[in-house]
Amino acid sequence: MKIAIRREPIEGERRVAATPAAVAQYVAAGYAVTVQKGAGIAAGYPDAAYAEAGAELAASIPLSKVDVLAHVRPLDRETIGTLPKGAITVGFASPASELDGVQALADRGVTAFSLELIPRISRAQSMDALTSQALVAGYRCVLEASMRFPRFLPLFMTAAGTIPPARVLVLGAGVAGLQAIATAKRLGAKVSAYDVRSASADEVQSMGGTFIHLDLDAAADAAGGYAKELAADRADRQRELLAPYVADADIIITTAAIPGRPAPRLVTASMVKGMAAGSIIVDLAAETGGNVEGATPGEDVQVPVDGGHVTIVGMKDAASTMPYDASRLLGQNIANLVALMTRDGALVPDFDDEVVAGACLTHEGAVRHEPTAAALADRKGGK
Ligand code: NAI
Repeated sequence: MKIAIRREPIEGERRVAATPAAVAQYVAAGYAVTVQKGAGIAAGYPDAAYAEAGAELAASIPLSKVDVLAHVRPLDRETIGTLPKGAITVGFASPASELDGVQALADRGVTAFSLELIPRISRAQSMDALTSQALVAGYRCVLEASMRFPRFLPLFMTAAGTIPPARVLVLGAGVAGLQAIATAKRLGAKVSAYDVRSASADEVQSMGGTFIHLDLDAAADAAGGYAKELAADRADRQRELLAPYVADADIIITTAAIPGRPAPRLVTASMVKGMAAGSIIVDLAAETGGNVEGATPGEDVQVPVDGGHVTIVGMKDAASTMPYDASRLLGQNIANLVALMTRDGALVPDFDDEVVAGACLTHEGAVRHEPTAAALADRKGGK
């Protein structure tokens, strides 16, 4: 069976779906691997390394002949339209926001596995690309903030005086938020964090952060350990209670998300106005609506305050900014999922396996992921 790895066609995407190490695993498992020339260059993996790992290099991938296509970003319509019936794809498919693409995959008879749908159970942790890429993003957010911050992060006691540590506030303490806490701690900052999930306080403390308890009457836990959306009045109360912590922070990293929903608004424009000049906010959720009012994906927005301005950094393609390690983790996640489905050198999905069934988005012309199928049906019915 042939596995193909392309140069990601979306501008600004620097990750690659397989590193040479992943290719070597595919070859050892009995696959023939074709890698498009230059596919790994932006991530730091040269063509020669792929050739050494056993891949065949091609100027372009003959899409109509591939058995398996591993990819990073959701596939474009042209690609889907060229894949042969029965082809298997493995990568991020963004089922919540790319309904047309999902329908096109089903119509084409493609068996698509979506990394967003990997069940969050212990057995599937090695395939959990949301987690691996969130880790990269959380780390990067703190670096972005520290590079723009006009002060030190750690405490310095020098002969010329003592410099206090920066106060970093992390809002949303999932995988990315926890990594942001750990990174800010390593840089010596004083870190506090807040999340709506009940398990979060212990997780924050285990990373060395101080958990902020808000008097919101109940936590917002949903199935699978995720958070659920707050009702409007509780969201208002949350912002009100967060305001003094926001005003007190030098750097804020926001990472709050609700699966399949726009990002919750945690920081309003007036809360930003209450911060001191020189403060930095990095909004990891800028691409999904923004936790911070005024955040613009891919841009720095400067908000005038007394004595200067506050900078809001709208993160975009966060994992792609560290493409070498992000690809190393992502490529391994994909290779682990493929390995789970491999029998005698061929990819044969066993739909009795809950990880395989859970990750399957489309198969034999149908949308297998029920919430996505329901969203498509609602759309057809004009709801
Ligand atoms: P995510 O990226 O979906 O969301 C980030 C964080 O935002 C979450 O912690 C969420 O509680 C928080 N949030 C949502 N609304 C908020 C609000 N209004 N205010 C403050 N915070 C808010 O989350 P991620 O990183 O995917 O983790 C979600 C859950 O999944 C966690 O319980 C995590 O421990 C669990 N998990 C389990 C894994 C496994 O078992 N394999 C792997 C990774 C995560």
